[in-house]
Amino acid sequence: MAKVKTQFVCQNCGYSSPRFLGRCPNCGEWNTLVEEKVQSTADRKSRVSMSGTTVKPTKINEIKMGETPRVKTNLKELNRVLGGGIVPGSLILIGGDPGIGKSTLLLQVSGQLNQTGGKVLYVSGEESSTQIKMRADRLNVTGDQFYVYPETDMSSIRQTIEDLKPDYVVIDSVQTMSEPDISSAIGSVAQIREVTAELMQIGKTNNITIFIVGHVTKGGAIAGPKILEHMVDTVLYFEGDLHHTYRILRSQKNRFGSTDELGIFEMREGGLTEVANPSEVFLEERLKDATGSAVVVSMEGTRPILVEIQALITPTVFGNAQRTATGLNRNRVSLLMAVLEKRANLMLQNQDAYLKAAGGVKLDEPAIDLAISVSIASSYRDKGTQPTDAFVGEVGLTGEIRRVNRIEQRVGEAQKLGFKRIFVPKNNLQGWTPPTGITVVGVATLGEALKKALN
Ligand SMILES: Nc1ncnc2c1ncn2[C@@H]1O[C@H](COP(=O)(O)OP(=O)(O)O)[C@@H](O)[C@H]1O
Ligand SMILES: [Mg+2]
Repeated sequence: MAKVKTQFVCQNCGYSSPRFLGRCPNCGEWNTLVEEKVQSTADRKSRVSMSGTTVKPTKINEIKMGETPRVKTNLKELNRVLGGGIVPGSLILIGGDPGIGKSTLLLQVSGQLNQTGGKVLYVSGEESSTQIKMRADRLNVTGDQFYVYPETDMSSIRQTIEDLKPDYVVIDSVQTMSEPDISSAIGSVAQIREVTAELMQIGKTNNITIFIVGHVTKGGAIAGPKILEHMVDTVLYFEGDLHHTYRILRSQKNRFGSTDELGIFEMREGGLTEVANPSEVFLEERLKDATGSAVVVSMEGTRPILVEIQALITPTVFGNAQRTATGLNRNRVSLLMAVLEKRANLMLQNQDAYLKAAGGVKLDEPAIDLAISVSIASSYRDKGTQPTDAFVGEVGLTGEIRRVNRIEQRVGEAQKLGFKRIFVPKNNLQGWTPPTGITVVGVATLGEALKKALN
């Protein structure tokens, strides 16, 4: 076998060098050189002839549709997020924080796919066979065509796939797999990209469905390289608070379905079970008639999430009034309290204020202003908001409610999660039709919002 050579290519300008350089001599950018395999022309030719046929352009009307029914798992929520089931031969990336339940989900799904007659190869680079067996026993996963394979070397994995000819392959996780020809460290951009490219090639030529697990970095991206997302057919994110039992599965990209769907699961001793009525989940931990609580639809990147904002306003007993905020910007809270005092006649200067974004999230966008203000007013006046109300809007210094971005997505998300009414800036009402099933209330000032929301 010819020695595969690698080169380092600048991701900014395409400059290539035989060795690693900290700075690209061509464009001057730092840390942009990433190791890549060099493909010789002979290599490429052999790859074409491997499939045996030469591909010619075809008229779109003459392309025959193969019968590829979607494979449904027992987890309806997963089927829905995938757009109606698993498309055979697709490459599915599942991202999420460590410990969120990616391995659990895939182990359960593997078991179910095995029940319906699929041969599954579960490749784990993180756990030994016995560890996987222990978990499988706990989750009650069995199957005589379910193979567990603790391996990290891609050439062995390729060989095993070719020998075993499974219908489904799970790679847990892509960060632990290594391509022997690449000298870069395991988990580096170069490794992850080559491993994914190889998996894609294996999957597409043999019509194998491949699930790839990817850990998420602190910044929220799947292990740094966004490139992974471009290569696969479907990207699912598994998210949730580790201290709570609920998990949300969301599709970020889907070549075979909509990306608006989300699936909600509960993590139990016996594994992940689907939650039929998600709105209840989000309302259940909130006290029905509690004061000082308001739900906001906040955008996390391009994803809307619903978060409860809690406020506790109590008279100051000693010294200066306290202002603490968890998950929210304290200066923003102080500013909103000043606006409430001046524009809505709330005497807040001799009140301590404790604010919190529930669930441990950090919110940092202007659209959460209205929910913060409503929760403060609610606690101060001791009047609760409706548990099925949500709030979106930026508050200006004169007490006006200002327009926010992505209003349709926010309203859609609130409706999806069972909210009956959402307060939005009046200026956001033009130019779109609100979905049915949720009342959209446009408000122009803080005073108006408080009057309508607190009763
Ligand atoms: N014995 C157990 N009973 C209930 N839940 C468990 C048990 N062991 C592990 N878990 C849950 O499984 C989670 C680990 O899930 P896992 O699938 O390994 O996550 P990931 O693969 O995403 O890192 C833990 O966070 C915990 O909530
Ligand atoms: Mg795992």
